[in-house]
Amino acid sequence: MPDKTLLMFGIKIKKMNTQILKDTITQLFANGKGLLAMDESISTCNKRFAAVNIPQTVEMRRKYRELIVTTKGLNESIGGAILFDETIRQQTKDGIPMTDVLINAGIIPGIKVDMHAKPMAGFPREKVTEGLDGLRERLTEYKKMGARFAKWRAVFLIDKDTPTTQCIEANAISLSRYAALCQEADVVPIVEPEVLMNGNHTIQKCFEVTEQVQKILFYELYKYRISLEGMILKPNMVIQGLESDEKNSIDEVADATVNCLLESVPASVPAIAFLSGGQSPETATAHLNAINRNFKKRLPWIVSFSFARAIQQPAIEAWKGEDDNVKEAQQILYKRAKLDAAARRGIL
Ligand code: 13P
Repeated sequence: MPDKTLLMFGIKIKKMNTQILKDTITQLFANGKGLLAMDESISTCNKRFAAVNIPQTVEMRRKYRELIVTTKGLNESIGGAILFDETIRQQTKDGIPMTDVLINAGIIPGIKVDMHAKPMAGFPREKVTEGLDGLRERLTEYKKMGARFAKWRAVFLIDKDTPTTQCIEANAISLSRYAALCQEADVVPIVEPEVLMNGNHTIQKCFEVTEQVQKILFYELYKYRISLEGMILKPNMVIQGLESDEKNSIDEVADATVNCLLESVPASVPAIAFLSGGQSPETATAHLNAINRNFKKRLPWIVSFSFARAIQQPAIEAWKGEDDNVKEAQQILYKRAKLDAAARRGIL
């Protein structure tokens, strides 16, 4: 094999291998599977625990993540699990690395690599996601630990004057530079531009903002030489704000989401995996099901899920931090993942 490594400015640069990226994507979504996002940062995980009175400690987070990865049959519906830095370094109580438990079950480990959305200077209420510094080296380390795909999330708030084009462009460039570093390392980038559900906006407003965000994002991805065939898009669904009085049916949300993405996402992207964004588990599943049931023949991409809350929330509530509740919580987690896999096929 010829050496595909170049030496530039004293740094070893590898040429991307698109086939490795494509193979990983095929495996992640094989047999109608989707992704499980279990990459809550320490503060987000603690917030979810606090809501159900679970102590917010390293050990409880470790126990909870062990509960998830040891769920029997999870691999029937889940092809990849996105981990947080703390979890990828943790082991089960029997001393087995969490990543090994996943890999042995045929679930590919992934890793959240962004360093969170931070207030954007000069743009009140808007955020820009950080984490590019040292990313090449961090990707090398995560790869050694078994990660074959990564995630970076940017957030956009709909309000009277937001999101601004500056906020969209700044985040689109960071997402593109992140994606380039991932692809250089043969790690599949999940590119996540999330238009938040917070607010009282209409579905029409969400449509317009999501379309604008996707179009700017894909323009930048193209400029930064990203292989679209070697990435996964993780968008929001097109839906009214959480505080909106508007009532849209399941089919209306499916319609708006598909029409928006057909208008803005190139057909060369192999897979879209939605975030749930604060929808209830049942609603997120129903929307995904309607999208696949009503539009299957018109969709150029695999349309799947990468839910966190919509898969995990009922399981956390059942667990309550008690060892005696682990089995029941695992059954609930298994069932939600099964339903989402069925929704991916549009057969519910
Ligand atoms: P939710 O499904 O809870 O929105 O989380 C998905 C995710 O990974 C957000 O980054």
